[in-house]
Amino acid sequence: MSSTDPNRINKPALLEITGLEASYGRARVLSSMAFSVSPGEAVVLLGRNGAGKSTTLKAIMGLEVESKGQILFDGRPINGSPTHQIAQAGVGYVPEDRRIFAGLSVAENLAVGRQPARDGHAWSAAEIWALFPPLRAIADRRAGYLSGGEQQMLAIARTLMGNPRLLLLDEPSEGLAPVILARIADVVASLKARGIGLVVSEQNLAFVRTFADRVLILETGLVRFTGTLADLDADPGLVARYLSV
Ligand SMILES: Nc1ncnc2c1ncn2[C@@H]1O[C@H](COP(=O)(O)OP(=O)(O)O)[C@@H](O)[C@H]1O
Ligand SMILES: [Mg+2]
Repeated sequence: MSSTDPNRINKPALLEITGLEASYGRARVLSSMAFSVSPGEAVVLLGRNGAGKSTTLKAIMGLEVESKGQILFDGRPINGSPTHQIAQAGVGYVPEDRRIFAGLSVAENLAVGRQPARDGHAWSAAEIWALFPPLRAIADRRAGYLSGGEQQMLAIARTLMGNPRLLLLDEPSEGLAPVILARIADVVASLKARGIGLVVSEQNLAFVRTFADRVLILETGLVRFTGTLADLDADPGLVARYLSV
């Protein structure tokens, strides 16, 4: 409900969602969802399994769900646009199952993800190695042989090769070791510093603590809380009610 960063007021939103509803066939799974993301800001969607986190990201990407309401990217409506146009406009998406090409090497996965420059910049392999040093050492290894953490790094890296301005990460921490989580949290922080906006779906509150500017708590497709981590910590009952198992 509150935003403590005064700079936010001057930055136009990269993503602005209002009155979003989403349904699979006749089953409505999101209602009156609203939030915005500015350049360099990370908004985290928290909630238990089935709360509607993945559906929110799919609605933004124009995948699987039918949506109503307004989704503005860079001031232009994107609802109803085909997924490839949304991606071309600058929205990168790393799905829960990561979808890297198992039969291709790490370097080949990056090459496949390469897109023309945006705003005068295109991610190079060298920049990717700098962001994810462990990937460099395994550049020639087939992606199918990578560990879960390496695959998650590669999935994010490949999406960055599309030069997104907004990055959607669906439960990036799932199944990963703490040392990998710390690295991915650092990567999120450096992407923010470059001005990329992020929407991160998560169940792991500890993982998002270093980078979350704002959190939303979802339950059965409704936003139950919006605020900063400080706001969230001020009411310990929230975590008990909506997050812990
Ligand atoms: N492809 C689908 N078809 C029908 N219902 C779905 C589909 N995907 C998800 N759902 C339902 O939508 C609700 C929200 O799911 P989801 O967005 O995946 O939640 P989360 O990512 O928070 O775990 C759940 O009730 C889930 O069963
Ligand atoms: Mg999910």
